[in-house]
Amino acid sequence: MKLFYSPASPFARKVLVLAYETGLIDQITPVACVLSPVAPNASVVEENPIGKIPTLLLDNGTALYDSRVICEYLDELHEGKKMFPPAGSSRWETLTLQSLTDGILDAAVLIRYETYERSEQHQWREWIENQKLKIFRSLARIEKEIENLTGTLNIGVIGIGCVLGYLDFRFPDENWRNRCPKLAEWFLEFNQRTSMQSTRPH
Ligand code: BEZ
Repeated sequence: MKLFYSPASPFARKVLVLAYETGLIDQITPVACVLSPVAPNASVVEENPIGKIPTLLLDNGTALYDSRVICEYLDELHEGKKMFPPAGSSRWETLTLQSLTDGILDAAVLIRYETYERSEQHQWREWIENQKLKIFRSLARIEKEIENLTGTLNIGVIGIGCVLGYLDFRFPDENWRNRCPKLAEWFLEFNQRTSMQSTRPH
Protein backbone atom coordinates (compact mmCIF):
# COMPACT_ATOMS: atom_id res chain seq x y z
CA MET A 1 0.00 0.00 0.00
CA LYS A 2 1.18 3.52 -0.82
CA LEU A 3 0.24 6.42 1.42
CA PHE A 4 0.31 9.86 -0.19
CA TYR A 5 1.01 12.21 2.67
CA SER A 6 2.73 15.37 3.82
CA PRO A 7 4.94 15.33 6.92
CA ALA A 8 3.10 18.50 8.06
CA SER A 9 -0.44 17.13 7.67
CA PRO A 10 -2.11 16.24 10.98
CA PHE A 11 -4.68 14.11 9.13
CA ALA A 12 -1.91 12.05 7.54
CA ARG A 13 -0.30 11.84 10.98
CA LYS A 14 -3.47 10.23 12.35
CA VAL A 15 -3.13 7.46 9.77
CA LEU A 16 0.57 6.95 10.49
CA VAL A 17 0.08 6.91 14.28
CA LEU A 18 -2.65 4.30 13.88
CA ALA A 19 -0.38 2.28 11.58
CA TYR A 20 2.40 2.31 14.21
CA GLU A 21 0.04 1.45 17.05
CA THR A 22 -1.47 -1.49 15.17
CA GLY A 23 1.80 -2.90 13.80
CA LEU A 24 0.92 -2.14 10.18
CA ILE A 25 3.53 0.52 9.53
CA ASP A 26 5.86 -1.85 7.62
CA GLN A 27 3.09 -2.62 5.12
CA ILE A 28 2.81 1.04 4.13
CA THR A 29 5.08 2.86 1.68
CA PRO A 30 4.84 6.58 2.47
CA VAL A 31 5.01 8.90 -0.54
CA ALA A 32 5.69 12.48 0.58
CA CYS A 33 3.78 15.06 -1.48
CA VAL A 34 4.04 18.79 -1.90
CA LEU A 35 0.67 20.48 -2.34
CA SER A 36 -1.51 23.37 -1.23
CA PRO A 37 -5.13 24.38 -1.82
CA VAL A 38 -4.00 26.45 -4.80
CA ALA A 39 -1.35 24.03 -6.10
CA PRO A 40 -2.73 20.50 -6.28
CA ASN A 41 -0.37 17.53 -6.60
CA ALA A 42 -0.87 15.68 -9.91
CA SER A 43 -0.14 12.21 -8.48
CA VAL A 44 -2.68 12.71 -5.69
CA VAL A 45 -5.34 14.14 -8.03
CA GLU A 46 -4.96 11.12 -10.29
CA GLU A 47 -6.07 8.87 -7.41
CA ASN A 48 -8.34 11.27 -5.51
CA PRO A 49 -10.16 13.96 -7.52
CA ILE A 50 -10.50 16.09 -4.38
CA GLY A 51 -6.69 16.19 -4.35
CA LYS A 52 -6.35 15.82 -0.59
CA ILE A 53 -3.93 13.90 1.52
CA PRO A 54 -3.88 11.40 3.06
CA THR A 55 -4.85 9.12 0.19
CA LEU A 56 -4.09 5.40 0.44
CA LEU A 57 -3.47 3.45 -2.76
CA LEU A 58 -4.04 -0.28 -2.29
CA ASP A 59 -2.00 -2.87 -4.19
CA ASN A 60 -5.06 -3.66 -6.35
CA GLY A 61 -5.22 -0.03 -7.50
CA THR A 62 -8.13 1.07 -5.27
CA ALA A 63 -7.68 4.49 -3.71
CA LEU A 64 -9.11 5.15 -0.24
CA TYR A 65 -9.68 8.56 1.33
CA ASP A 66 -10.17 10.49 3.63
CA SER A 67 -8.26 9.84 6.89
CA ARG A 68 -11.35 8.39 8.60
CA VAL A 69 -11.91 5.83 5.85
CA ILE A 70 -8.21 4.95 5.71
CA CYS A 71 -7.97 4.54 9.49
CA GLU A 72 -11.04 2.32 9.63
CA TYR A 73 -9.75 0.25 6.70
CA LEU A 74 -6.34 -0.28 8.35
CA ASP A 75 -8.01 -1.20 11.63
CA GLU A 76 -9.68 -4.15 9.85
CA LEU A 77 -6.30 -5.50 8.72
CA HIS A 78 -4.87 -6.46 12.10
CA GLU A 79 -5.82 -8.85 14.89
CA GLY A 80 -4.69 -6.69 17.82
CA LYS A 81 -6.67 -4.25 19.93
CA LYS A 82 -9.04 -2.35 17.67
CA MET A 83 -8.77 1.43 17.46
CA PHE A 84 -12.45 1.63 16.42
CA PRO A 85 -14.61 -0.06 19.06
CA PRO A 86 -16.84 -2.51 17.18
CA ALA A 87 -20.22 -1.66 18.73
CA GLY A 88 -22.15 -0.06 21.54
CA SER A 89 -21.82 3.25 23.32
CA SER A 90 -18.01 3.18 23.28
CA ARG A 91 -18.11 3.09 19.46
CA TRP A 92 -20.34 6.16 19.24
CA GLU A 93 -18.35 8.05 21.87
CA THR A 94 -15.09 7.27 20.09
CA LEU A 95 -16.45 8.23 16.66
CA THR A 96 -17.79 11.49 18.09
CA LEU A 97 -14.41 12.25 19.65
CA GLN A 98 -12.84 11.55 16.25
CA SER A 99 -15.27 14.06 14.68
CA LEU A 100 -14.48 16.64 17.35
CA THR A 101 -10.72 16.30 16.86
CA ASP A 102 -11.09 16.32 13.05
CA GLY A 103 -13.19 19.49 13.42
CA ILE A 104 -10.42 21.13 15.43
CA LEU A 105 -7.90 20.12 12.79
CA ASP A 106 -10.12 21.45 9.99
CA ALA A 107 -10.32 24.82 11.75
CA ALA A 108 -6.58 24.90 12.49
CA VAL A 109 -5.56 23.96 8.94
CA LEU A 110 -7.97 26.55 7.49
CA ILE A 111 -6.42 29.24 9.72
CA ARG A 112 -2.99 28.11 8.60
CA TYR A 113 -3.95 28.47 4.94
CA GLU A 114 -5.68 31.81 5.51
CA THR A 115 -2.72 33.30 7.36
CA TYR A 116 0.20 31.68 5.54
CA GLU A 117 -1.07 31.51 1.97
CA ARG A 118 -2.90 34.87 1.79
CA SER A 119 -1.42 38.32 2.11
CA GLU A 120 -2.37 40.12 5.32
CA GLN A 121 -4.58 42.67 3.59
CA HIS A 122 -6.77 39.87 2.18
CA GLN A 123 -7.17 37.97 5.43
CA TRP A 124 -10.63 37.84 7.02
CA ARG A 125 -9.92 38.52 10.71
CA GLU A 126 -13.43 37.81 11.99
CA TRP A 127 -13.46 34.44 10.23
CA ILE A 128 -10.04 33.58 11.67
CA GLU A 129 -11.17 34.55 15.19
CA ASN A 130 -14.26 32.38 14.86
CA GLN A 131 -12.19 29.40 13.73
CA LYS A 132 -10.03 29.95 16.82
CA LEU A 133 -13.12 30.02 19.03
CA LYS A 134 -14.15 26.63 17.62
CA ILE A 135 -10.74 25.28 18.56
CA PHE A 136 -10.77 26.70 22.10
CA ARG A 137 -14.35 25.59 22.82
CA SER A 138 -13.51 22.08 21.65
CA LEU A 139 -10.27 21.93 23.65
CA ALA A 140 -12.22 23.03 26.74
CA ARG A 141 -14.61 20.10 26.21
CA ILE A 142 -11.73 17.63 25.85
CA GLU A 143 -10.02 19.14 28.93
CA LYS A 144 -13.12 18.16 30.94
CA GLU A 145 -13.08 14.61 29.63
CA ILE A 146 -9.39 13.79 29.47
CA GLU A 147 -9.17 12.21 32.95
CA ASN A 148 -11.67 9.55 31.82
CA LEU A 149 -9.51 8.81 28.79
CA THR A 150 -6.22 8.27 30.62
CA GLY A 151 -4.84 4.85 29.70
CA THR A 152 -7.25 4.55 26.73
CA LEU A 153 -6.03 4.17 23.16
CA ASN A 154 -8.46 4.52 20.28
CA ILE A 155 -8.95 6.65 17.16
CA GLY A 156 -10.42 9.52 19.19
CA VAL A 157 -7.43 9.60 21.54
CA ILE A 158 -5.04 9.42 18.57
CA GLY A 159 -6.95 12.43 17.22
CA ILE A 160 -6.31 14.35 20.45
CA GLY A 161 -2.58 13.61 20.18
CA CYS A 162 -2.51 14.83 16.56
CA VAL A 163 -4.45 18.01 17.45
CA LEU A 164 -2.04 18.95 20.23
CA GLY A 165 0.98 18.11 18.09
CA TYR A 166 -0.35 20.30 15.27
CA LEU A 167 -1.07 23.22 17.61
CA ASP A 168 2.50 22.99 18.93
CA PHE A 169 3.82 22.82 15.35
CA ARG A 170 1.85 25.64 13.73
CA PHE A 171 0.41 27.73 16.58
CA PRO A 172 2.97 27.72 19.41
CA ASP A 173 2.01 31.30 20.36
CA GLU A 174 -1.54 30.27 21.22
CA ASN A 175 -0.23 28.56 24.38
CA TRP A 176 -2.96 25.91 24.56
CA ARG A 177 -1.27 24.51 27.70
CA ASN A 178 -2.27 27.61 29.70
CA ARG A 179 -5.93 26.94 28.93
CA CYS A 180 -5.79 23.17 29.31
CA PRO A 181 -3.45 22.05 32.13
CA LYS A 182 -4.90 18.53 32.35
CA LEU A 183 -4.47 18.02 28.63
CA ALA A 184 -0.92 19.33 28.94
CA GLU A 185 -0.16 16.69 31.57
CA TRP A 186 -1.80 13.95 29.50
CA PHE A 187 0.15 14.99 26.38
CA LEU A 188 3.48 14.86 28.20
CA GLU A 189 3.09 11.09 28.45
CA PHE A 190 1.14 10.41 25.24
CA ASN A 191 3.66 12.31 23.14
CA GLN A 192 6.42 9.93 24.28
CA ARG A 193 4.87 6.98 22.44
CA THR A 194 6.95 5.63 19.57
CA SER A 195 4.02 6.29 17.23
CA MET A 196 4.08 10.00 18.13
CA GLN A 197 7.86 10.38 18.21
CA SER A 198 8.20 8.69 14.80
CA THR A 199 5.62 10.95 13.14
CA ARG A 200 6.60 14.37 14.45
CA PRO A 201 5.52 17.02 11.89
CA HIS A 202 8.16 18.88 9.93
C1 BEZ B 1 0.58 22.42 7.02
O1 BEZ B 1 1.62 22.73 6.43
O2 BEZ B 1 0.26 22.90 8.11
C2 BEZ B 1 -0.30 21.39 6.35
C3 BEZ B 1 0.18 20.69 5.25
C4 BEZ B 1 -0.63 19.75 4.63
C5 BEZ B 1 -1.91 19.51 5.09
C6 BEZ B 1 -2.38 20.20 6.21
C7 BEZ B 1 -1.57 21.14 6.83
